[in-house]
Amino acid sequence: MTQLTTEVLVIGSGIAGLMAADLLSAKKNVTIITKSALGQSNSRLAQGGIAAVTTKDDSWTNHFFDTIRAGAFHNDEELTELLVRSGPEQIRQLINFGVQFDKGSDGTYLRCKEGAHNTSRILHSGGDATGKEIIETLINRVKMKCTILEHHFAVDLLMDEGVCNGAVVLNGDNEALSITAIHTILATGGAGQLYPVTSNDPSITGDGIAIAYRAGAILSDLEFIQFHPTMFAGDRNQSFLISEAVRGEGAILVTAKGDRLMKGKHEQMELAPRDVVSRAIYQEKSDVYLDISMINQFDQRFPTIASLCYEHGLSLSDGKLPVKPGAHFLMGGVMTDRHGRTSIDGLLALGEVANTGVHGANRLASNSLLEGVVFANAAARWIQNDTRKQVCNLIAQSLQVPEDMPEVNYIKELMNRKVGIIRNGAGLNTAIQKLEAPLIQARKNASNSEEILRYNMLQVSWLIATSAYLRIESRGGHFRKDYPNLKQEFKKKRIIRRVSQDDWVQT
Ligand code: SIN
Repeated sequence: MTQLTTEVLVIGSGIAGLMAADLLSAKKNVTIITKSALGQSNSRLAQGGIAAVTTKDDSWTNHFFDTIRAGAFHNDEELTELLVRSGPEQIRQLINFGVQFDKGSDGTYLRCKEGAHNTSRILHSGGDATGKEIIETLINRVKMKCTILEHHFAVDLLMDEGVCNGAVVLNGDNEALSITAIHTILATGGAGQLYPVTSNDPSITGDGIAIAYRAGAILSDLEFIQFHPTMFAGDRNQSFLISEAVRGEGAILVTAKGDRLMKGKHEQMELAPRDVVSRAIYQEKSDVYLDISMINQFDQRFPTIASLCYEHGLSLSDGKLPVKPGAHFLMGGVMTDRHGRTSIDGLLALGEVANTGVHGANRLASNSLLEGVVFANAAARWIQNDTRKQVCNLIAQSLQVPEDMPEVNYIKELMNRKVGIIRNGAGLNTAIQKLEAPLIQARKNASNSEEILRYNMLQVSWLIATSAYLRIESRGGHFRKDYPNLKQEFKKKRIIRRVSQDDWVQT
């Protein structure tokens, strides 16, 4: 097997991975591997923008309370404070790196509002192409400074006595190579592709969560899935995100009869936290539309969305876009501390794959790009100062996968029906049984990345269903019809960890 050595291995190329790679590349040898093309990620697709306190009439406490309220009071308060207090400095850093945020004709930055924010504090680029602007800026910076391996798929971590020493990886021809590293950063994103309707990039299949779990890392809060209320309600494979910033500019949700959907459902109406709006749309019997007729020059303010509408044959002049909720963001993930460190020595996790606790049970809009850069900076600082030098040269073992694995669409449909927006114990139990059956079957050596990807999807779906079954309350992105209320005693994180090949613990 080919062996490569690096000081820092970054797995994934969204905002968090690229930012960490960039900051570390000044003093360290950094290798980035990414399973598709460089920068293909959820970050690139981010429309709305990046939330931060950048005006005198806003304050970190305002941003903090908006974040905590949206998060259903499940947030790690210390790290949430760190997140929002770091906002202004992170915006300055991005501007220094060359990111162009939109400005008005008077030269001041434009700020928009999204759900559950009490003020307009979201900076954006290209109208609704903020992620693209940031990712392209970061790619230009890392291109010459890091070793970049595109179309390389991380199979498993190289573990020695509980310490991570890099990863075993398959290249585009399914040839294995082992990459040893002093520090390994997982930045693989969440798991939106476990559901049939999602805003996520096709590459976002929960791989980082699966490989961390197999290595024994502590995972937490996986039951909290955010469904974005306004995906275009077309054919499943054709759905796309219609940013919450559209509602921030005044668009309203209406039923087929033209009634205002959110009336009487929440004081913030269309700008209520996403879980509230998504459930309202999901429970409405008729089709639901986003009425955009009051937004002047929609195609200039939202050029990406406008062109997606045209591509899908939707006329903006009707003033009404059909919408439905879709899987958008995983609040839980690999549990990390303020430096992005996981429970495994040598392994850090950043961005959506991590559970820093800053999003609680439901992420506040436009806090995810901010989380990516804040914790990438924290992790880079920590790695720079860490004295760990040696890594073991390990021989990678083949990953064993079940002989018969369900099709991807079967997993997605099951997740949608039983582990979706509204859940109940019986449905979750059915999902667990169905997902567990192949997981405990006879195994064979995996021979290609497609098999491993399917195994990852199966394993992460099982983890989400199990976590959701264990939380017998409703909070944020986790709603149980059989336990519709919030329970104080359930405020704590729900953790799950693998302790051996066939054994796991949940608390
Ligand atoms: C959106 O633009 O509605 C999505 C932004 C986010 O999820 O933060």
